[in-house]
Amino acid sequence: DGVTVTALRDLAVRLATAAGALVREGRPERVVVAATKSSVVDPVTVMDRASEDLLREMLAAERPDDAIMGEEGDDRPGTSGLTWVLDPIDGTVNYLYGVASWAVSVAVVAGPPDPASWTVLAGCVHSVTDGRTWSAGLGEGATRDGEPVRVGSAASLATALVGTGFGYDAGRRAQQAQVLAQVLPRIRDIRRLGSAAIDLCLLADGSLDLYYERGLNPWDMAAGAVVATEAGATVAGLRGAPAGTAMLVAGAEHLVAELTPILEEADADGGADGGTK
Ligand code: IPD
Repeated sequence: DGVTVTALRDLAVRLATAAGALVREGRPERVVVAATKSSVVDPVTVMDRASEDLLREMLAAERPDDAIMGEEGDDRPGTSGLTWVLDPIDGTVNYLYGVASWAVSVAVVAGPPDPASWTVLAGCVHSVTDGRTWSAGLGEGATRDGEPVRVGSAASLATALVGTGFGYDAGRRAQQAQVLAQVLPRIRDIRRLGSAAIDLCLLADGSLDLYYERGLNPWDMAAGAVVATEAGATVAGLRGAPAGTAMLVAGAEHLVAELTPILEEADADGGADGGTK
């Protein structure tokens, strides 16, 4: 329909900011665990659902022909070729506990709604407790609160501050701990902040030098990935694969090149067999 990247980016910012306001007002009294998903440590709060409902309502009014993929609801098909990828609260455990790092993440992608093959056109990550808002449009660069951001550049892995995260499954966590045992002795330090979307934005503005995680969902990474790439980061998978659920590694190109063989050696993506181990 001739919509521009700039208009999509502006809408992503409006959506994330509106949902953020709703969710901020809903905490703490209304933070209750409504259900659990993969395991008891993966809470779905009432506010996750309310936030996604608001995002879906706004999109139904403004972009009725676009598809929607969200963490909490069913996929809505569309006819425009664009898909909105929504994480109504990324960092739900932080939100639940009152730890500051949680965000609303909104992205719009062209192509199949799969991180390995989509093109992210625009995205916004709104960190609700401190109001920091990162956004990016394809080819437009990335900003934090309107100011351009640029990926940091530690000289080498040995002086790099590295972010990561862990899934909710116990077996996966045991494997991720083994990978971490290989990485940790070779870096400046590790951060596990609890929101993949914010991690990617901190990477984009140089607050982290590298970030890697296995098992991210599309909505955890969509907006953050376009912010990171537009800030100059390399965002990739292992063994030549694009960034996706199996693995996402992000950072300045020379740092990604240093970390990647260590992650490959440790089978951080589950191994060359395609992640079935
Ligand atoms: C989680 C966060 C966390 C990451 C997990 C994600 P959620 O998302 O981004 O940092 O390590 O892999 O599932 O559940 O809070 O939306």
